[in-house]
Amino acid sequence: MDKIIINGGRRLEGEVFVSGSKNAALPILISSLLTSEPCIYQQVPNLLDVHTTLKLLAGLGVAVDRQPWLTGSGDLMLRAERVENFEASYDLVKTMRASFLVLGPLLARFGHARVSTPGGCAIGTRPVNLHLKGLAEMGASILQVHGYIEAKAERLRGARIYLDLPSVGATENLMMAATLAEGTTIIENAAKEPEIEDLARVLNTMGGKIAGAGSDIMRVDGVSSLRGVTHRVIPDRIEAASFIIAGALMGGEVVVKNARPEHLDAFLIKLKEAGVSIAPDEGAIRVTGNGRIKSVDVTTLPYPGFPTDLQAQMMVLMAVADGVSVITETIFENRFMHAQELDRMGADIRLEGNRAVVRGVKELSGAPVMATDLRASVSLILAGLVANGKTEVSRVYHLDRGYEHIEKKLMALGAAIERVQG
Ligand code: EPU
Repeated sequence: MDKIIINGGRRLEGEVFVSGSKNAALPILISSLLTSEPCIYQQVPNLLDVHTTLKLLAGLGVAVDRQPWLTGSGDLMLRAERVENFEASYDLVKTMRASFLVLGPLLARFGHARVSTPGGCAIGTRPVNLHLKGLAEMGASILQVHGYIEAKAERLRGARIYLDLPSVGATENLMMAATLAEGTTIIENAAKEPEIEDLARVLNTMGGKIAGAGSDIMRVDGVSSLRGVTHRVIPDRIEAASFIIAGALMGGEVVVKNARPEHLDAFLIKLKEAGVSIAPDEGAIRVTGNGRIKSVDVTTLPYPGFPTDLQAQMMVLMAVADGVSVITETIFENRFMHAQELDRMGADIRLEGNRAVVRGVKELSGAPVMATDLRASVSLILAGLVANGKTEVSRVYHLDRGYEHIEKKLMALGAAIERVQG
């Protein structure tokens, strides 16, 4: 297994380009199942989770042309003309939970699907009850047999669906299903993340009729078929923010290009409160590491609140800030596993249920640490950059799920970082 080795303390300086968003790309690639026509996607990041999605789609019978993508144009073409398998296996769904999103599109277009339930996850229980409740309300018959969801519906019909929580995945599954349903679907308490809006843009370009994406109430008027699309995936706001934290910790001046400040409001406000100097530029965010950082309290919330996917990275910033910060995680029950690893590097973090009390220390010290999930792994890289001496991060396959060439990008900014093949 590969490891990443960092010699901390190097100042970062220069420009870094943000890749396409993982969490926008995954549902968008899956939405190709809704049409028999070719779909071209641009700025799709070359990541493990994208490879898993392509494997899943190819297994269903989707023609995948990744040649232009691999040779650098960034375009990927998918065509779901001859779908002949309607099952997503446990092996794939347990590797990547987003695989569960094939359920809505398969059911809507072909009338049946068999998809493994995802099971537990390192960061929380993450049930799929809201996806299933919504599809049942649209008329699907749903059975759970031997760990699989077996769903059928001659044609889904529009329904009024209230989500108990604004779940990103449930909103995506249901909005995809509703595009081909008969009649109108209203999703109340829908998730409002920028990735939802990007998926809605794709579906509307395909001929779908979605209004209100990005607000609490989404209306989907069903149509009888959808056509192909060419779409450029939005930049990854979580990757952008991870580089902004790297700049805050170690800049110099770091210019994060291809970033959308409007997707990062809550995060940028918190960083300014912490005394970090940030200047949104057209299509870029400039961050200047100008000395000490002040502690701020942070509570993760659904968008537009502070993203849970930035909680681990923010904890590193707070670990070396002046004062005491309380970080409250409200989205997932078990998303503090990085805290113990940061403690090994000299951080002072006390966990109290869903709160982490982080007392800033003068300095972290490099150590061998273990990544436990995607965002935890990037937080350990950030900690390695600021720590004194050598940090060795193992289990970096978690990192490869969601960060494209991160060590190369950090190296280009001046970090002493390398990947060692194990
Ligand atoms: N939930 C339920 N029932 C459901 C669905 C969700 O109780 O049917 C709960 C979950 O257990 C969780 C909360 O609702 O406690 C939020 O889950 P949500 O469905 O919103 O998350 P997701 O769709 O499974 C996506 C991202 C995550 C990100 C969350 C929250 C993708 C592929 N994944 O997951 O990204 O943390 O939204 O913003 O879009 C990551 O990239 O590292 C990552 C984990």
